[in-house]
Amino acid sequence: MNPTLRKPLIAGNWKMYKTVREAVETARELVQFTAAVNVDVMIAPPFTALAPVAEVVRGTSVALGAQNLFWKNEGAYTGEISPVMLSDIGCRYAIIGHSERRQYFGDTDESVNAKIRAALQHQLIPVFCVGETETQREAKETFSVLDKQVTKGLEGFSSEALSGLLVVAYEPVWAIGTGKTATIDQVQEVHAFLRSLVEKRFDNLLAKTVRILYGGSVKPDNVTEIMNMPDVDGALVGGASLSAKGFNSIIHFHH
Ligand code: PGA
Repeated sequence: MNPTLRKPLIAGNWKMYKTVREAVETARELVQFTAAVNVDVMIAPPFTALAPVAEVVRGTSVALGAQNLFWKNEGAYTGEISPVMLSDIGCRYAIIGHSERRQYFGDTDESVNAKIRAALQHQLIPVFCVGETETQREAKETFSVLDKQVTKGLEGFSSEALSGLLVVAYEPVWAIGTGKTATIDQVQEVHAFLRSLVEKRFDNLLAKTVRILYGGSVKPDNVTEIMNMPDVDGALVGGASLSAKGFNSIIHFHH
């Protein structure tokens, strides 16, 4: 982490967990814990809880994120949620291209690209997820898979359009929800690779300022060593973000 160039971001992805009541309760607790925190904090509750949680976090150091979006502003798209609707209720971030969406709901590099474009048009910070599967890692395809995901996902954007906004999350699929964390050397290797890729496809300024988060079984007891890696600028946390107490100790990783 290089905090002079990049403010750390700790993001919680609540996935398909929590009723409105549970979400509001967790958010209230978290707001109390994080009153004076010097990192960016984001939580992404399920869609049903976004508006009520928005009320709880308004004016606090906890920002709101969506777990997905559709790229149209409105229309006959049953079951989808638009970036306009998300900005309207106070979302600042949108997680895009999470591996669970790629795996179960048909998100592709092309749809991910359209979603990132839509997010940027509506002042939502895209948290653009990339990562290789176990089979791809074993076949030594990690770098080529990531190259393709980044190149296609960010196709057509200028460095200026992404500057100060883009967040990349490296989430090795084999480490998500499995209790298996990538070793810190594996994490640093891939983060440095991703940063060099941003430099190659865009420029040095974007490479220096883009925040690259690690995700995959981040817990209170492994967050410090992960955050100490020079190219890790934050964490995208699933399971361990569901409890305000646990998530709070991740947020305070430097203590
Ligand atoms: P996990 O999930 O922390 O439960 O492994 C991470 C994620 O999917 O974002």
